Amino acid sequence: MPQAEAQTPSDTQTQALASEDDQAPREDDASVAIRLEDVALGYGPTIVQQGLSFAIRRSDVFIIMGGSGCGKSTVMRALTGLLAPRQGQVFLQDQSLWEVSEEARTQLLRGVGVMYQSGALWSSMTLEENIALPLEQYTPLSKQQISELAEYKLALVGLAGFGGYYPGQISGGMRKRVGVARAMALDPDILFFDEPSAGLDPLSARRLDDLILELRDSLGTTMVVITHDLDSLFLIGDDAVFLDAETHSMLTTGHPKQLRDHSEIDEVRAFLRRGES
Ligand SMILES: Nc1ncnc2c1ncn2[C@@H]1O[C@H](COP(=O)(O)OP(=O)(O)O)[C@@H](O)[C@H]1O
Ligand SMILES: [Mg+2]
Repeated sequence: MPQAEAQTPSDTQTQALASEDDQAPREDDASVAIRLEDVALGYGPTIVQQGLSFAIRRSDVFIIMGGSGCGKSTVMRALTGLLAPRQGQVFLQDQSLWEVSEEARTQLLRGVGVMYQSGALWSSMTLEENIALPLEQYTPLSKQQISELAEYKLALVGLAGFGGYYPGQISGGMRKRVGVARAMALDPDILFFDEPSAGLDPLSARRLDDLILELRDSLGTTMVVITHDLDSLFLIGDDAVFLDAETHSMLTTGHPKQLRDHSEIDEVRAFLRRGES
């Protein structure tokens, strides 16, 4: 992935972005990591979200936001291969995720890493063993190579030398960083985070934000982040989509600060200004 394309959330870039209420930006294909075209998602008879059309640019930090239960995690499931859409298409690296063969889909999903809310580490395994797991499963590397790679991934998230510790011996913030290291084990092009700062103290939450930006800047990884945390989404977000529980659809896309200051949609402004007097 060309580093020159890496986006940094500077104010000048903010100015350069398209109007925030532009619902379906049609981007140059090479600059797009994920595109949804008229996607509908649901469980059984229930439709959770429909009419989803938006693009996630490569090397952006893209925020999925909206109230509790509106369908953020459901959208993430569709983008990570766990839930087939009722309608519409999801393009990953320009291939229709749900129309290619199962083999091709598995291959596409190798390029996707997911960090789940809890970090989801095995408590009976050391940190190194936790990170080694996907490498043992999906690569032909030797034990020694895997061990070295696991140590390298730990160093990437600021935990060099902690490989021999168990999850119970480190703080919640450190466990989340290990979750990031494990999600990065197979060098994904796209990394998903479902409410990464949930349950963290503010300082650990900021450190996790810094880590997301550092990894994006150094590796060019596209970051898709579900979060409620306003400080976080204004700090790290280059672009965002706002999902609405009532209409079961997206209300708008755009840069979080632009949406806060200029969105014409009351609900979006209110969401992004909550806590302000
Ligand atoms: N596995 C499931 N089966 C049925 N309904 C589900 C399932 N997962 C989530 N839902 C429902 O779908 C809606 C959206 O859930 P979710 O995507 O988890 O929302 P969010 O992540 O925005 O809080 C909710 O009404 C939830 O109850
Ligand atoms: Mg959720």
